This record gives sequence, C-alpha cells and structure tokens, in this order.
Amino acid sequence: MAIEKIKENIYYVGAQDFERRIFDELIPLPDGTSYNSYLVKGSEKIALIDTVDPTKRDVLINNLKELNIERLDYIIPNHAEQDHSGCIPDILELYPESRVVTNSKCKTMLMDLLLIPDEKFITVDEKKPISLGGKTLEFIMAPWVHWPETMFTYLREDNILFTCDFLGAHYASDTLWVENGKESSRIYNAAKRYYAEIMMPFRTNVKKNLEKVGELNPSLIAASHGPIYRNKRFIVEAYKDWSSDEVKNEVIVAYVSMHGSTKRIVDYFVESLTRKGISVKLFNLTNVDVGELSMTLVDAATIVIGTPTVLAGAHPSALYATYLVRVLKPKTRFVSIIGSYGWGGRTVEQLGDLLSNLKLEVIEPVIIKGYPREKDFELLDDLADRVVAKHSEIGILI
Ligand code: FEO
Repeated sequence: MAIEKIKENIYYVGAQDFERRIFDELIPLPDGTSYNSYLVKGSEKIALIDTVDPTKRDVLINNLKELNIERLDYIIPNHAEQDHSGCIPDILELYPESRVVTNSKCKTMLMDLLLIPDEKFITVDEKKPISLGGKTLEFIMAPWVHWPETMFTYLREDNILFTCDFLGAHYASDTLWVENGKESSRIYNAAKRYYAEIMMPFRTNVKKNLEKVGELNPSLIAASHGPIYRNKRFIVEAYKDWSSDEVKNEVIVAYVSMHGSTKRIVDYFVESLTRKGISVKLFNLTNVDVGELSMTLVDAATIVIGTPTVLAGAHPSALYATYLVRVLKPKTRFVSIIGSYGWGGRTVEQLGDLLSNLKLEVIEPVIIKGYPREKDFELLDDLADRVVAKHSEIGILI
C-alpha cells in the first residue's frame, strides 16, 4: 500500500505484507499481516509512531522520502517487539538528530534488543506529553498487552489512539479502513485469531486497557497491524465479548490417532455430544492450524483431548495441544481426556499436570483398552452426559 493521508498532516507510511505466512516461527498467517507506521507533522516537530518489520525497511524509508521528510524529531515505539521497532536503528541512521521517545521499560528493552545507545532516548510517562506544535502526543501506559512495556499514543487534537498490537489483526489489505468489521467476516476472524494468539493469555489486562480506550473515546483507532477502525464499537465490543467471563455451549475435541482406535472413540463421542445438543469443534492435531484451534479456545466451555498412548504417555501432538491451552490461558471451564491404550500408561496424570496452572474442572476421563467395544460406547455416552450436566449447571445449554 502506498502512503495514505489519514487526516491533515497525519500519514500512513507502513507496509503491507501479503506474502508472510508465519509469525514468530509459530503463528500461521492466512491473511498475511501489516506493520503500520504513522507520521504526524506538527507546526514545529515531526514524529513517527512505530516503524515496520526489518523485512519492509525499504518501504518505510521510501515512504518517508516520498513525503520529503528531511528532518525527523521523534520516533515513538509503543512496543519493543521487532516487528514494530526493528527499523529504529535504520531510521536513526537516516535521521541522526532524531530521538526515540518511549517509556523507561521500553527504553531498556530497546537498548537490549537493538543496541540503541542511551543518549538517543527521551523517556516519557503518562504525565509527560510532547507537543509537535498544534499536535499533542499523550502516552498511556498499557502494560501486558502483550509485553510489560506496551503503551498507547493518543493524538489529542485529532482524537486518534495508536494502540500498536492491542485491537490489531494480522491482515494485509489494499484498504486501510474498516467502517464496520461485521461487514467483513474475514476482518472479524483475523482480529479474533489475533486476540486468541496474542492477547488471550492477558485477559485481565485486556479488560483494564479496554477501559482506558473507553475513557479516551477516540474517533479513530489505529493499531499497528491490520485496518484502522472508524467504527471503534466493532472492535471494542468484540474484545469485550472475547475477554468476558462468558463461555459458550461448545466443546473442542482435539485429537490424534495412530491406528484408528482413538479416532473411533472420538467419532462416537462427537456424535453423542451433538445428539445431546452441544456444538462440537473437532480438530485433528496431525494437521491442525494452531490459529484456528486458538480461536475456538476464546469461547468454548469445554475442551476434550483425544490421544492414544505412546511410550507410556500421551502422543506428542496431544501434549503440544495441551501445552498450547496451558499457555494461552483460555476461559474454558471444563476439561476431559479420551483415548486408548494397549498395556498401561500415565496419560491422564501427564496431561492433568500440564493443565494444573488453570482453574479447570476435570470431568472424569475415559481411556479405553484397545479398539472400543459396546461397553466402551456406554462410557463415552456417560461422559457426554457429564459434559451436558456441567454445561447445564452454568446455564449455557440451550
Ligand atoms: Fe506486533 Fe508484539 O508485536
């Protein structure tokens, strides 16, 4: 995307990355991503809010050249992660008089991560706005969405809030604006996927920072990934829903099967749950998109891991999925395990230990010897009944 004027003397100078398919060597990017960078020109000073990923350095520099920016006073990183900060050294080389304006935690991290020298920084906090001349930048500390140093920059006169990762989406597009995300389920899904992968472990902080956004009541929300929101209600209401304590009448069944026993167990169990009025999200862990799995963790009341027994424990794919649940800390309320074994094992203890950091109620697992028989199907029906009873207890069974 070329440069885009957002308002008088405010420009989008970032980069769209349509081709990137993985982030952090972990997160799939079905819609690519963008690294949004914003230039704000006051009557006296010029500031750049966030830079871009180092792979898109030339795009940012060409955009600044195209706007004839000969002097840059401030570079403002809202976050130290390199997809936004990684080009600060390049920009400092291009504009040696420029100073990096950020909070003290972010400063320390940038000194460590990018080896930027101390004298290049100006440290700010919530009580230290800076004036560009007719444009005032305020800094709102927003820790732990998703690193400890994260902050928002608020452009007072234009009522624009720059939130960096918060409220963002990995979504590359030729269009910078979104009027109402519900008009595009792709944008809604990209934002939800992003929330699940990046923000969900920090749900309590998400809620606190949503309140800050509400108090400021900005007319535009400009994150550093994805579109700019003209209708902030869309993204704020979605975040309120995702970060609330409410769960939905959904069960995630995430399984792996080696020789068909666990698959037969899973298929029967899914059918039983469905018959009893529960919505099931089924994932074969052999070829799972962890983003899709994470998204379902935003809402589901229950997760059931399905695994065969391998070397006296759960299959490594089941361990990986369970570890993902552990670190993403969803609001899921109940967990159970189904699967098969040949001669013994510690699958249940092993997976239970992995989830011990979460306040999940364990619904008694069903681990079956060999291929399931009639009596085993009864056990699976009983387990489905127990799930139904739990969903009913918390009032989500429709
Ligand atoms: Fe987009 Fe946490 O970096």
